[in-house]
Amino acid sequence: MFEQLKPVPQDPILSLLADYRADTHPHKLDLGIGVYKDEQGNTPIMRAVKEAEHRLLTTEKSKSYTTPAGTDEYNQLARALVFGADHAALRDQRVVSAQTPGGCGALRMGAEFLHGCNQKSRVWVSLPTWANHAPLLAGAGLEIVEYPYYDYATHGIQFEAMLEALEQASAGDFVLLHGCCHNPSGADLNREQWHAVADLMARKGLIPFVDMAYQGLGNGLDQDAFGVRMLAERFPEMLVATSCSKNVGLYRERTGTLFIVAANRAEAQTAGSQLFSKIRSHYSMPPAHGAAIVETILADAGLTASWEYELAAMRERIQGLRQQLVAAIAASGIDGDFAFIQQQFGMFSFLGITPLQVEQLRQDYSIYMINSSRMNIAGLNQGSMDYFVSALTEVLSA
Ligand code: LMR
Repeated sequence: MFEQLKPVPQDPILSLLADYRADTHPHKLDLGIGVYKDEQGNTPIMRAVKEAEHRLLTTEKSKSYTTPAGTDEYNQLARALVFGADHAALRDQRVVSAQTPGGCGALRMGAEFLHGCNQKSRVWVSLPTWANHAPLLAGAGLEIVEYPYYDYATHGIQFEAMLEALEQASAGDFVLLHGCCHNPSGADLNREQWHAVADLMARKGLIPFVDMAYQGLGNGLDQDAFGVRMLAERFPEMLVATSCSKNVGLYRERTGTLFIVAANRAEAQTAGSQLFSKIRSHYSMPPAHGAAIVETILADAGLTASWEYELAAMRERIQGLRQQLVAAIAASGIDGDFAFIQQQFGMFSFLGITPLQVEQLRQDYSIYMINSSRMNIAGLNQGSMDYFVSALTEVLSA
């Protein structure tokens, strides 16, 4: 039977990473996968994480099973981080959550849950969106529909076109929104736009599904959660998927959370029972180590302060790199205005060069970015900035 199978091409982000790792060029530069790097080009383990692991090593008493939702303590702390401890939806106990294997686990289990609610519903995703959104959502049986989002000509959001497309959605459809640091464009809705999208969705009976994988890497932990918190005040039902990969640096520990907001406590409990049963039939329960780290940090004021301090430094470093990149490109004499890079948030921006130019950067200079020209700004540093800008100058003038 297996001899009939056809090979499946690897996800473009992961195959680029494999190519980068195999490259032996001394100045190779990874601007592909969304992983934070420090000035030395390393992806460090945060100090609070190391300390939490140290404490866990001496205090952990058992490796016995937890539950499909993970531990209550983790979920309580994760809810406060995402919604804010005093959010009305938490006071009304209408939010259930489950710790998941990374943000991917949260998105997939959210999609499985939504498909169970209504097998005919569609999920609207931004054009473009993260390469793994469609596989995760369609894999659960949801039909994908796209709404225009990023305008490659103006380097901003096609907001009117986005609203016009969402006017075509039907009541009960789900709309995937990026909570902050839009992946792949870095172009985020401003507060006024969040309200306008919420108005439209409420009027049409659409249900928000927010993917917030980068909380704290845009403007700050609370600022980045603005959209989620506002929607949870206004909408009786919504979903939120989050990740601790980037903001706690727990990439390979696969730590994320799915939140279901329901109309009231009783409905939240029923929705939770549906979700937990789906989790049980998929992977039974999530891995514990990453969640135990997050729980240890968030339950301790000192560790929380240390984590927030380091996260702020990461965020500021990315903002600084954005400014330096714009200045270096301007100084190089490259034609064109790249100032938009400074107005965008999180790790990514589209550089706006052609796939051929992206390929030239890869072939001639071992500089790796996604074919769409999405680049991970956090992959740059003081040492590589000149190399990158001079390679770009060469490629653009060829
Ligand atoms: C990315 O977009 O590069 C990250 O979210 C990593 C991934 O898994 O694709």
